[in-house]
Amino acid sequence: MNRREFILAAGAFSLAPSIAAKGSAAHSKKIDKSLAVIVSDCHICGDKKWHANDEMVKTLNQILALDPLPAKMIVMGDIAALVGLKKDYHEAKKVFTPIVDAGIEIAWMMGNHDRRDVFAEVFPEWAETSEVEGRIVHVVKMPSVDLVLLDSLDQLKNKSNHDGKINEAQIKWLEKFGASTKRPFFVCTHHDGRQMKKFAQTAIGTGNLMRGYLHGHRHSWMLDALHNWKDGGRLVRSIGMPSASLWGDIGFVTLRDKGDHAEFKIFERDCFFPSPDFRREESWDVLRKENDGAVVKVLYK
Ligand SMILES: [Fe+2]
Repeated sequence: MNRREFILAAGAFSLAPSIAAKGSAAHSKKIDKSLAVIVSDCHICGDKKWHANDEMVKTLNQILALDPLPAKMIVMGDIAALVGLKKDYHEAKKVFTPIVDAGIEIAWMMGNHDRRDVFAEVFPEWAETSEVEGRIVHVVKMPSVDLVLLDSLDQLKNKSNHDGKINEAQIKWLEKFGASTKRPFFVCTHHDGRQMKKFAQTAIGTGNLMRGYLHGHRHSWMLDALHNWKDGGRLVRSIGMPSASLWGDIGFVTLRDKGDHAEFKIFERDCFFPSPDFRREESWDVLRKENDGAVVKVLYK
């Protein structure tokens, strides 16, 4: 079966991979509190008719095969397929159930293909615990570092808005957080810092404990650095995450908290660009091999 046939077949129920069942080996494994996993751009469709659902299951099964298991999972936005339909979130809940059953805590973020009001109807307990009213904002605590999950969805009525925005309420909250925290932290948004330059500078300006910028949206393992020329100049590492399922770099990233630094490692299963005239290129495999297993070190001071 060539790649195109594979992608098309992936939509067929008969070939769909099944997620690890409850009571599987994942439940007897140890959980590593210093380990988190990041998945982004899941694009789960409520009617199961496209390849992303099956690719998502494969990604989650790979995560459930880790030993030990991560304590936390960050879902970095674009949970829903295209326009945040309720059936997409119901399907997402189903697809992620084995992760919850395995004892991994999930933290959800909003992307441009999500709708926060619809998400909140299906995941009210997560929406209600937001740090900022009207947005989905949380702090995920690792043993030595915090992940500050912000909401860059600039929601339009009937279509997806590819531009991101962090509203004033979140900026005020982040500045307060940065001024009071004693722990290093990473700022996480679905959109990347180069798309929201003014905000990225604000984030870096929250002080020396702001140590990294993590984002999704580009479907690419992107290693970058954001610079702040003020206050003596600072360099903050920026890391773009692969898509868990849809197109581009496909896989997930682990974050290991090592006490004085974090290690990010990419598990890239595939790289593809499905379209009606899909033709697999050798360069996609070269890219996948180059990325898979790459490790990035980010210091806490
Ligand atoms: Fe996106």
